[in-house]
Amino acid sequence: MINVVIFGPPGSGKGTQGQIIAEKYNLEHVSTGDLLRAAITNNTREGVIAKSYIDKGELVPDETIIDMIDGLLEKLPMDRGVLFDGFPRTVAQAEALAEILKEHGRDLSTMLNLEVEEEELITRLLKRGETSGRSDDNMETIKKRLEVYNSQTLPVMDFYQTKGLYKAVAGMGTVEEIFERIAAVLDSVEAAK
Ligand code: AP5
Ligand code: MG
Repeated sequence: MINVVIFGPPGSGKGTQGQIIAEKYNLEHVSTGDLLRAAITNNTREGVIAKSYIDKGELVPDETIIDMIDGLLEKLPMDRGVLFDGFPRTVAQAEALAEILKEHGRDLSTMLNLEVEEEELITRLLKRGETSGRSDDNMETIKKRLEVYNSQTLPVMDFYQTKGLYKAVAGMGTVEEIFERIAAVLDSVEAAK
C-alpha cells in the first residue's frame, strides 16, 4: 500500500493526474479543494468558514483543514492507500499530516511535485474559468492564488526534500505524457517497498 502527496501550484494538474493515479493504483483520492467546495454546496460549518477564503484565493485556516483530514482518515479502510491532492499546503499542515498518518498506522511513500511554468498555469486556469463556475477561476483571484502558493506553500517542498520523500515531475506536455512520468516514479516507489 502506498500513500502519496500530489503537489504543485494552482492549475498544475493535481486533480487531473490525481484522478488517473487513484484509479490505476487503487488509491482513495482526497482533494481538500473538492471537499471544501462540496462543503460550501452543502452549507456545512466548514463550508461557511471556507467560502470567504476560497473566493479571495487565500488559504483556509490550518485547523479546519487538519480536522477535516483527520476525520476522513478515520473512516478509511486500513488496507487502502491515499492520494492527497491540494494538501498539505503549509508546513504546519505537513507536520500535522505526519502525525495523523502515524496515528492511523500509515506512512507517506512519496511527494510528487508537478513543475509547470507560470504562464501555462494562468492559461489553463483562465480557460477552465470559461466553464468551471469556480469562484476563484478569474484573473484577479488566480494571481492571488499564485502569490499565496509562492509565499505559504513552497516551503512544503523543502519539508519533504529534507525527509527524502521529494520527487519532481515535469508537468508540461499532454496528460498522458505526464502520467507516464508519474507512473515511472510510483512504480519504483512500490518496487522499493
Ligand atoms: P484547490 O481546489 O486545491 O485548487 P488549486 O490548488 O488552486 O488548483 P486547481 O484545483 O485549480 O488545479 P489543479 O492543480 O488541480 O489542476 P487541474 O488538474 O484542475 O484549492 C482551491 C482553494 O481551496 C484554495 O485556494 C484554498 O482557498 C482552499 N484550499 C484547498 N486546499 C487547502 C488546504 N490544504 N489548505 C488551505 N486551503 C485550502 O488542471 C487545471 C486545468 O488545466 C483544468 O482545466 C485541466 O483540464 C487542465 N489541464 C490539466 N492538465 C493539463 C495538461 N497537461 N495540458 C493542458 N491542460 C491541462
Ligand atoms: Mg485541483
